[in-house]
Order: sequence, then structure tokens, then C-alpha cells
Amino acid sequence: MNVLVTGGAGYIGSHTCVELLENGCGVIVVDNLCNSSAGSLDRVQEITGQALKFYQGDVRDEKLLRKIFRENHIGCVIHFAGRKAVGESVEKPWEYYDNNLNATLTLTKVMEDAGVRNLIFSSSATVYAAANEMPLKETSATGCCTNPYGWTKYMTEQILSDIAFADKRWSMCLLRYFNPIGAHESGRIGEDPRGIPNNLMPYITQVAIGRREKLSVYGGDYPTPDGTGVRDYIHVVDLAKGHVAAVKYTTEHTGCEAFNLGTGTGYSVLDIVNTFAAVNQIPIPYQITARRPGDVAVCYADPAKSAEKLGWRAEKTLADMCRDSWRWQRRNPMGYGE
Ligand code: NAD
Ligand code: UD1
Repeated sequence: MNVLVTGGAGYIGSHTCVELLENGCGVIVVDNLCNSSAGSLDRVQEITGQALKFYQGDVRDEKLLRKIFRENHIGCVIHFAGRKAVGESVEKPWEYYDNNLNATLTLTKVMEDAGVRNLIFSSSATVYAAANEMPLKETSATGCCTNPYGWTKYMTEQILSDIAFADKRWSMCLLRYFNPIGAHESGRIGEDPRGIPNNLMPYITQVAIGRREKLSVYGGDYPTPDGTGVRDYIHVVDLAKGHVAAVKYTTEHTGCEAFNLGTGTGYSVLDIVNTFAAVNQIPIPYQITARRPGDVAVCYADPAKSAEKLGWRAEKTLADMCRDSWRWQRRNPMGYGE
């Protein structure tokens, strides 16, 4: 089957392209490269020894999308394309609502006209309300988002479930990612954030390579075993494999369903720092600073529904995640920018 991957040149998209190609799917990517480089797709083809088709352009460009559906026999769409920086979304809400919502509206309209109704959407654990008990189940409360980025994920889930309700031929999976880290074990593709990283692992690897002096640990007084925030970190290759399972699921079911993609285990910031330092034999200097506004103390998944219905489980360990993140950073000190 041919799969259209929007945002396929990005961090999670590029790893998913590898898994799709290795599982016998044809891959067509559309990406405007606003937060990525086409070099990632060259490396996907190098890793797999297989070709993919790339259209450089915007998912909001309806004419381009119609052309892509005309020129390719597409069976399923994985929709990664979107802006994802939480802080930037607070400063530029219009940009986030325009990009993330209009991309989805344009895409689903063109899919409907083309008669392609299998869609997998990149959602996030950020859609869950902060007041929930852990672990988070797909039935836990959603909403009360703290920033425009989170609201775009919440609203997109609503839009997609309304579309699937109105026309029973649609088959949609809303994949709620927890905290993806790590990189392909080849060290050829990985996360390449622009500017100062907002997220924990890319900051740690940039400290390790000498691009940053030390890590600020945001808060040491949370009600957690060591006082630092706890998250459900998941290896990006495991996450990518979850998409292959979801593609199969959409072809066998209809309706719109949410799935948690996490490991079910929470690790603290200091667990990550210490594991990274131990497996890679590199000390990570850090200082504990004030809490980051909007952060919760603890967030981890109940991944039972994904195991039961998608037949998918995360397999890689925290040590794998730390080793693979570092291999990517060490071999590509400036990311794809070299
Ligand atoms: P990324 O920025 O690396 O990838 C997104 C890709 O989409 C980029 O290549 C970008 O150029 C492209 N893009 C953005 N807007 C576009 C548009 N209008 N038209 C065409 N291409 C466009 O991000 P990622 O980490 O790979 O995340 C992929 C998806 O998963 C995003 O929707 C993100 O919100 C979601 N997500 C990510 C995380 C995470 O921690 N990385 C967590 C939860 C959800
Ligand atoms: C963040 C976003 C979330 C998004 C997710 C994936 C916020 C509030 N949430 O989640 O919406 O879906 O990224 O992109 O931004 N930390 C440090 N020092 C750092 C960076 C992070 O101590 O320099 C800590 C954080 O306080 C947190 C943990 O590390 O406890 C993980 O942070 P991060 O990687 O940013 O992910 P989230 O905050 O879970």
C-alpha cells in the first residue's frame, strides 16, 4: 500500500518513513521544510536502500494536494505536518491555529474528494487535562489545555471525530504520543531542533557535545521520588512502529479512535541525566532552577489499549534511548546542517 506522509522530513516522520519502507509500503512525502531538511529523506533512502517520492510544499496548498492524489494511488495518510513549539505557540497563536488546523481541514477535504478515508493523526499527551490520575487512559479527561499548540491538537481530534461520525466510511487513529526521544540506531537520522532546544533530550545531547554549558533542571521540589518532573519517554523507533500498526488497523476498522503511544513507565529528569551519563560515559553538568510554567509533576501512559487493539508495545529501554540519542548527536554535531 502507498502511504502519504505529511511532515515526513521531520523527526518522527523520517523514522516512520524508514519503518514503512521496511514493511513493504510505498512512501510519498509532502513537507514544506519549515522545521526540517530534505537531507533527512536522502538518509531514509540510504538506510532502507529504497526510494520514496517527495513533494516540497505546504499541506494547506489544496492544488498541490489534489495533484499528489491524482499522481499517486494512496491508501492511507499519516498526518505529522504541524508546528510544535509550545512557547512559540503562545507568542504566535494565529500562526499555530492557521497552520495546524487549516492543514488538517485542507487534507481531509482533498482525501474525501479522492475517496481516501484512512487517516492517522499525530496527537499528543498534551490533550489530557492536568487534573487526571496517572496513568492516563484514552478515556481520561481531555481539554483545559495550557497553550495554543495543545488546543490545536485538542481541536483537531474533535474535527476528525466529527468527520468520522458524519461519514462512517472514514477510519481514523488519533495517536497520542508521550515523550519521543532517541534516534535510528544507524545514527543517520535524529532530532535536529532549530535554535535553543525546548525539550530535555536534545538539550542534554547539546550539553554533551559542548554546544551548551549546562542543563537547567526545571524544578527540584515536585512531589516525585527525587523532586524532578516525571515523564513517559518513548524511543522514536518504537513510536514509528506504532504508526505501521495503526496503518494496518485503519484498513481493518472504521470510526475514529484514540491510542496512547507510551511505555507506561515514568522516569524523572535526573533518571534521564544519570542514565545518559552512565551509558555514554559523559558527565552532564546541571543545575536545579525554578519550575517551568505550565509543567506538570508527573505524566505517563497506560498503553494497554494500544497493546490490545494495535498489537503494539514499546520494546526499547531508557539505555537504548540515551545511547541512540547520543550516537546521532555525536556523529552529526550540527544536525543536518553540516
Ligand atoms: P517536526 O517539526 O520535526 O516535524 C514536522 C514536519 O512538518 C516538519 O518537517 C515541518 O517542516 C513539516 N510541516 C509543518 N507544517 C507544515 C505544513 N503546513 N505543510 C507541510 N509541512 C509542514 O516535528 P516532530 O517532532 O516530528 O512531530 C511530528 C508531529 O507529531 C507534529 O504534529 C507534532 O505536533 C506531533 N507531536 C510531536 C511530539 C514530540 O515530542 N516531538 C509529541 C507529541 C506530538
Ligand atoms: C513538552 C510540551 C508538550 C509537548 C512535548 C513534546 C511543555 C509544557 N510541554 O512536554 O506540550 O507535547 O514537549 O514536544 O512545553 N526539562 C528540564 N530542562 C530542560 C527541558 C526540560 O528540566 O531544559 C524537564 C521538564 O521540566 C519536564 C521534562 O524535562 O519535566 C521533559 O520536558 P520536555 O522534553 O520539554 O517535554 P514535556 O514538558 O513533557
